Amino acid sequence: MRHERQVEILDRIEAAGPRRVGLFGDESMVNPASVYTDPVRFAEERRVLFREGPVLAGLSCEIPNPGDVLTATFDGLPIAVVRQANRSVAALVNTCRHRGAPLVTERVASCGARLTCPYHAWTYELDGKLAARPMSDGAFDDVDLECNLHRVAVTEKYGMIFVRAGGPAPIDVDAVLGGAEDDLGAFDLGAWHHVESRVNTWNFNWKFLLDTFCESYHIRWLHKESLAPTFLSDCTVVESFGRNFNSIGLRKSVVEEFTKPVDERSILPHSTIQYFLVPNTLLVHQIDHVEMWRLEPVDVHTTIATTSIFAPEPAVTEKAQRYWAKNHDLLLQVTGTEDFPVMAAVQRSLEAGAISELVYGRVEPALTLFHRSVTAAVEAGTTGL
Ligand code: FES
Ligand SMILES: [Fe+2]
Repeated sequence: MRHERQVEILDRIEAAGPRRVGLFGDESMVNPASVYTDPVRFAEERRVLFREGPVLAGLSCEIPNPGDVLTATFDGLPIAVVRQANRSVAALVNTCRHRGAPLVTERVASCGARLTCPYHAWTYELDGKLAARPMSDGAFDDVDLECNLHRVAVTEKYGMIFVRAGGPAPIDVDAVLGGAEDDLGAFDLGAWHHVESRVNTWNFNWKFLLDTFCESYHIRWLHKESLAPTFLSDCTVVESFGRNFNSIGLRKSVVEEFTKPVDERSILPHSTIQYFLVPNTLLVHQIDHVEMWRLEPVDVHTTIATTSIFAPEPAVTEKAQRYWAKNHDLLLQVTGTEDFPVMAAVQRSLEAGAISELVYGRVEPALTLFHRSVTAAVEAGTTGL
C-alpha cells in the first residue's frame, strides 16, 4: 500500500476520537434471515454473481509456467485456467468433450505441453483444441461434432486472474475492482509466491464466511484469549470500491504511529488489511504475507473455502515451509474453533425460524456494504460488469 494511503488511513483513525465513532457507518441495516436460508435466493446469487459475473480465480503466481493449471468451480461449472506457451492465460471448461470427465482434478497442477483426460486419454492443446484421440481410426470418423474444449472469458491484470464462467463477454478488471486497483496494484501480487492451499467445507451460507471478517466488534468477546490481547475491537477502517470494500483491522500498537513524524508513519506493522472482492474472495495482507480465502457456495448452507498462503520469497527450505504451515494452522484454528462454530449455529437457528431478521449496526459498516452490494446485484439480475 502506497505511503500516502497509509498516512491517509492513520489520519482517519486519529481523527475518529477515542471511541472511534468517526469510523462508524452512516446507518445500521436490518437484513432478512432469508438471504441466508432461501434456496431460490441462493440460486440467483450463484447465477448472477458466480456464473454470469466476473470472479477472481486466483493469483498469477499460482500458475507461473506454461502448462500450469488452476481449477475452481463457479456456480458448479468446473473451470481450468491454463498458462499458455506465450505466458498468456486461457480459461477452459474443465470437462472432456468425449464423455465429460474432468481433465484436471487437482486445485493447482502442471500438465506439461498438453492436457490429457484421465478417462480415455483424449488430449488437448493448452488452448483447448483437440489434439489426439487414442485408437481413433474408424472409431470416431462418423462424428462431425467439433470437440475442442469450451472456452470462457479470462483476463489477467495486477497479478490477479478473473474469469467469467458463464460466457465469453470480455472482463474489464479496473471496472471489476472499482478503484481498489490502486491499493492492490501497489501490493504487487504477481511477485508473491504461492506456498500452500488447503480446502475445507463449512456448514453455513457463503455470506456468513465473509461476514466473519467484516467487523472487529466481536474480537473482544469471541476471541477474548486469542486475538483480543493484541487487536482493537472497536476500530475498523472501512472503504468501498464499487461492489468491493476493504476492512482494516488494527493492533493496539497502532497508537505508536501517532507519535512519529508523518513521513515515518506506517500502518503495515499494525494491521490486517482485508480486501473483499465480492463475491468470492477475501484477500488479506498480514505483516509478512498474504492470505487468501476463495469461496465456492455448494448449497444454501454448505460452502467450500480454499485458504492459501503467499509469501514474498519461495518457501524452499523445510524451515520456511514449517513457518508458513504454522501460520496457516493458526488461521484455521482461530476461525475453525472460534468463529465458524458460531456461524454454523446461526445458520441452523435461522433455518429453524428462530429469528427473521439480522441487525448490522453502524459499528459494523462493512456488513452493510457487503449485503447491499449482493442484494443490488440479485435485484438487478446482473452485476453490470
Ligand atoms: S471422457 Fe475424456 S477421454 Fe473419455
Ligand atoms: Fe473472528
